[in-house]
Amino acid sequence: MRKTLKQLMALKNMQKLAMVTAYDAWMATMADEAVDIILVGDSLGMVVQGQSSTLPVTLDEMIYHTKMVSRASSNAFLVMDLPFLSYQTSVKDALRNAGRCLKETMAQMVKLEGGTRVLPQIKALSDSGIPIMGHLGLTPQSIHSIGSYVKQAKTKKEADLLINEALQVEKAGASMIVLENIPHDLAKIVTNELKIQTIGIGAGPSCDGQVQVFHDLLGLYPNFSPRHAVNFLKLGKKIQKAIRQYAEKVRMDELISE
Ligand code: KIV
Repeated sequence: MRKTLKQLMALKNMQKLAMVTAYDAWMATMADEAVDIILVGDSLGMVVQGQSSTLPVTLDEMIYHTKMVSRASSNAFLVMDLPFLSYQTSVKDALRNAGRCLKETMAQMVKLEGGTRVLPQIKALSDSGIPIMGHLGLTPQSIHSIGSYVKQAKTKKEADLLINEALQVEKAGASMIVLENIPHDLAKIVTNELKIQTIGIGAGPSCDGQVQVFHDLLGLYPNFSPRHAVNFLKLGKKIQKAIRQYAEKVRMDELISE
């Protein structure tokens, strides 16, 4: 039985939530029994598709990947990202597209980025029974206005704005919120102020849960690891070595297989 939103929300101040991204059936199989939440993030644009940002990812692509993850998991609560321009354009678009996500993939919640500017969308989705995960701080879909993937809300004014936006996102109906790449003390304040759970990435240890990108967690890219990544394995280097060994055996005519 998949975990439910109600079960997870009841864990605030009792147990931290572990969330990881997954983008296909194999990844889902690897993660499903260990974590509370699987996120099919639009980070797939960068780590799977090789794009330089998450902006090109389409709704159809998100649905395609989430279907694979959904088929191969049965324990973790399943969340998917609404990609760039699938909800910012209007409340109507947000409803139609989030509705498609739940209908076609069996995801249990959608995540969208932003504060004040998407409050009407959050309210409309929540009023329609579609659970929402908010996302504040470093919001990669706004990379061209932010400029680079650096720590956000470092000044007092920006921090106050973020606290206020988090409270509004909660009030509009979000049930959880990702805090990405913000100062640790700010994440602690937001976590204490909100009744809903905060899930941090590069936001320090005080959040109600943590999220990592699958490839970062396992070190799948041999020469790249973001600062906030927690590498439990350096798997990329091992995979490269294994494939190099295979190629050498082929070239030396030493490959033995049935
Ligand atoms: O797209 C994604 O994977 C995300 C997480 C990093 C929170 O938004």
